[in-house]
Amino acid sequence: MNLYDVYSLYDVTPVKGRGSYVYDEAGTEYLDFYGGHAVISVGHSHPHYVKTISEQLQQMGFYSNSIVNPLQQELADKIEKLSQVKGYDLFLINSGAEANDNALKLASFHNGRTKIIALENGFHGRTSAAINVTHTGQKYQAPINHGVDVSYYHYEDIDSIITEIHRGETAGIIIEAIQGIGGLDSISNQALEQIAAACTATDTVLIMDEVQCGYARSGDFFAYQTSSIQPDIITTAKGMGNGFPIGGVLINSNKIPAVKGRLGTTYGGNHLACAAGIAVLDIIESEDLIANAQRVGALLQELLADLPGVKAVKGRGLMIGAEFDYPVADLRKQLVFEQQLFTGSAANANLLRILPALNINENHLDQFESKMKKALSNYKIPA
Ligand SMILES: Cc1ncc(COP(=O)(O)O)c(C=O)c1O
Repeated sequence: MNLYDVYSLYDVTPVKGRGSYVYDEAGTEYLDFYGGHAVISVGHSHPHYVKTISEQLQQMGFYSNSIVNPLQQELADKIEKLSQVKGYDLFLINSGAEANDNALKLASFHNGRTKIIALENGFHGRTSAAINVTHTGQKYQAPINHGVDVSYYHYEDIDSIITEIHRGETAGIIIEAIQGIGGLDSISNQALEQIAAACTATDTVLIMDEVQCGYARSGDFFAYQTSSIQPDIITTAKGMGNGFPIGGVLINSNKIPAVKGRLGTTYGGNHLACAAGIAVLDIIESEDLIANAQRVGALLQELLADLPGVKAVKGRGLMIGAEFDYPVADLRKQLVFEQQLFTGSAANANLLRILPALNINENHLDQFESKMKKALSNYKIPA
């Protein structure tokens, strides 16, 4: 049986990962500054992560959501402690798209409306409602995905967003505080605060999509936390499981109380997924990774700004975009095959997306700098 051919692949076969390195079949070492689309938060095969998941598997890997699973509560308590958010309940799911689909559904359940506001260049996933509100994924929307009435606005077009919310017809607005796939642009705190006020006035649900920018990546637990807003719903995934599929929907349960049967999943919140999620938070806490993302992220941003051809450095913490004055697709290939360095792309073709593990140090930065400088020193800018 062939694999359904939907992915464009690099001809590399990593078979082992340790910390911020992966190794192919021949044992060649690659420096991983991308974490498989922002997923690797605490490093590949971190010993505490491996131990926690292995021990859980010896006990029990899975049972359904019709029994008591104390690991779910432990995970919820740890998220609350590390993020310092208050007043949210946790619904566990398996991926970012599912988290957003459930968030959009809750918004519509809450006020009975069907319209959604989303931002241009946003990305929210590939499931039905999530792909429908994804501006960067319009070419991936099948006719069956066109069920949601979505208005897209530029992240700086606040007046239009506020006017639209005040019509009182919108179920919810979904926002990435720092856009990932779109290209690392950030909505301002002031804009977020104005949007939150308009949402409160009109009973519109404010959903912050923290799937990529959340979980300490930006140097705050959630990227929106540099503002004073309290979103109605926060969605999370990616770094939450360090590769184990898990996602979460944090819901302001005073505003949107739980109703039995309204949401559900077979696998979401299973024992192994919770063990992975708990181990990630243990490591974020014990290795002080929120502070590390701030500190090392600032150094990385300085380093990038000094590289030849870089015209802007965007993002915060360890969620960084280096914008060149030419398209970077060929450069990325050269980085993989000649410098053994993984980086990412974005909808902005000139932008290199850099999303290393949250526990990188100066030594990793030195290696990254040397590989980048070598690649750029003999790089022929594509015509
Ligand atoms: C901001 C954001 N939201 C949602 C998603 C979808 O997550 P998943 O691929 O886990 O469904 C992504 C994936 O890249 C993302 O970056």
